[in-house]
Amino acid sequence: MSKVERKWFYLVFAVLVVAIVAYLGYNIYQQQVYPTVTSIKNKGVLVVGTSADFPPFEYVNQSGAIVGLDIDIANAIAKELGVKLVVKDLSFDALISALQGKQVDLVIAGMTITPERSKVVDFSVPYYNASQAVISLTTQKFSGVNDLKNKKIGVQTGTTGESWAEDNLVNTSVIPESNLFHYDKLSDALLALKRGDIDAIIIDEPVARMFVRTVSGVQYDFGIYTGEQYGIAINKDSKDLLNLVNTVINNMKNSGQLDSLVQKWFGSG
Ligand code: ARG
Repeated sequence: MSKVERKWFYLVFAVLVVAIVAYLGYNIYQQQVYPTVTSIKNKGVLVVGTSADFPPFEYVNQSGAIVGLDIDIANAIAKELGVKLVVKDLSFDALISALQGKQVDLVIAGMTITPERSKVVDFSVPYYNASQAVISLTTQKFSGVNDLKNKKIGVQTGTTGESWAEDNLVNTSVIPESNLFHYDKLSDALLALKRGDIDAIIIDEPVARMFVRTVSGVQYDFGIYTGEQYGIAINKDSKDLLNLVNTVINNMKNSGQLDSLVQKWFGSG
């Protein structure tokens, strides 16, 4: 190589190295930043995490599609962003880590706004009020906590129903710890109830009411007032997304659209 050739060689080489480093760096940077309104618009999709075992908020319908009140709200958010909606079905207990790991942009899963969760994620303004309830097979009837003495109780892992049962049944010695059965999916808790492996399930009251309407042989025993509110969970570093989500929910509330959706999914029963 002549002197000039060598100069050109090094120059081209240097430019290539800079380009490759910049390209890799940009990719790593893109993966690390939390979803923003702009990054979601650029992607063209809004990825929402849920646990599709919670009718009528989210469940798998006869054609295998994930539908429900929460999914309609998610669609309204995707529409506002002008992007396509993708719903990821995970177990409830995995949702917050999926959000933190950026596998999903937001979580909408009938999730109660709690102080502990608020330490790690942001919540939207509330969109639904709920409490807990007890359901069982129609072959036995429970009228209050005392009737649950030494019974086998099913709960969904990571839920407020699980915490309620730990605080008010296990820690108060109504049932031994070994009588509290934890399920990743509510559908598995229902199967266990039907098989007779457990005597009752503690779940959110609106979902309890839906189950007794749609699952034969299951009845509503009693409600437990917990005064919970559902919110959409968002990464703490995605404030512009939080603002957009709040605007969508507030608009749906003010326009009466949220009420119509509740009517649509709960019907008159
Ligand atoms: N509201 C309860 C909680 O936040 C239960 C939510 C369960 N949601 C579901 N999609 N399975 O802990």
